[in-house]
Amino acid sequence: MPTTFPPPVRRITLDRTPTVVDPSVEPIRHTPVDRAHERGDQRERMTIDDLVVKYAGKPAVKGVTLPIRDQEVLALIGPSGCGKSTLLRTLNRLTELTPGATYEGRIALDGQDVRALPVTQLRRKVSMVFQQPNPFPMSIFDNVAYAVKEQSKRAPKKSALMPKVESALRRAGLWDEVASDLDRPALRLSGGQQQRLCIARALAVEPEVMLMDEPCSALDPKSTMVIEELIRELRKSLSVVIVTHNLAQARRVGDHVAFMYLGDLVEYAPAEQLFTDPRAERTREYVSGSFG
Ligand SMILES: Nc1ncnc2c1ncn2[C@@H]1O[C@H](COP(=O)(O)OP(=O)(O)OP(=O)(O)O)[C@@H](O)[C@H]1O
Ligand SMILES: [Mg+2]
Repeated sequence: MPTTFPPPVRRITLDRTPTVVDPSVEPIRHTPVDRAHERGDQRERMTIDDLVVKYAGKPAVKGVTLPIRDQEVLALIGPSGCGKSTLLRTLNRLTELTPGATYEGRIALDGQDVRALPVTQLRRKVSMVFQQPNPFPMSIFDNVAYAVKEQSKRAPKKSALMPKVESALRRAGLWDEVASDLDRPALRLSGGQQQRLCIARALAVEPEVMLMDEPCSALDPKSTMVIEELIRELRKSLSVVIVTHNLAQARRVGDHVAFMYLGDLVEYAPAEQLFTDPRAERTREYVSGSFG
């Protein structure tokens, strides 16, 4: 048997200590960055204008103005209790379901005040995925078909639903794992698969804006990577607003990042700028991990 030796090591004598250069701190982008995202000149899909949200008269969001641009990911970051979920839930009027919650200011979708839209129509266009995967206790097929059926006036047949179910499962990156048994109970899927099923359910109604409140915080790193890849894919066709406590994730997936603190919007900037050269001292402290 031939003996294998380790490769030879060549020792070089130096007359001074070499300088070790840090590897690039640039985040890894899995897909090429569209320059329009960096310029930030895409059309505004939603506009949040001087939004104040109160619970029983106590403000949780204090006059936030933000754009949600077409085909980009807006990441909302900030310490616990600073109003991220409240802001997100107000975008499709879910806060209206909380007794005592009120809001002032204006939220527009394509220039139209969201209060002027029928709420079902708004929630079809602006759909939401939550922190804990929450599939319905029914089959994989029915979970997605349910969302499609809700949008139809008459109950469509299974054969008519199939293409839409397949398309949503494909976009959510779950099709290959479940195609052979769509009748399997959704609750038997893994956590990461359940979350992708919830994303498929949200996509089935063909939304224009996808809201995600810490969608990966209950998931393992591998499922998190799959979902991050999916978010990057989704932004080619819609706008995504994601709340995350994971700063590396905000930097990886966000085109723009908004940093909130105690209900105020402290800074809104392109992701790279916010993490490498923030304008506000408070942002600098937060992104450097001084508090959280
Ligand atoms: N249903 C509610 N009733 C009363 N107060 C609420 C309600 N929901 C949230 N709040 C308050 O509003 C503020 C903002 O809460 P919110 O859930 O929006 O914060 P968050 O930034 O999403 O926090 P986390 O990172 O912990 O999820 C907090 O002070 C919270 O106690
Ligand atoms: Mg929250």
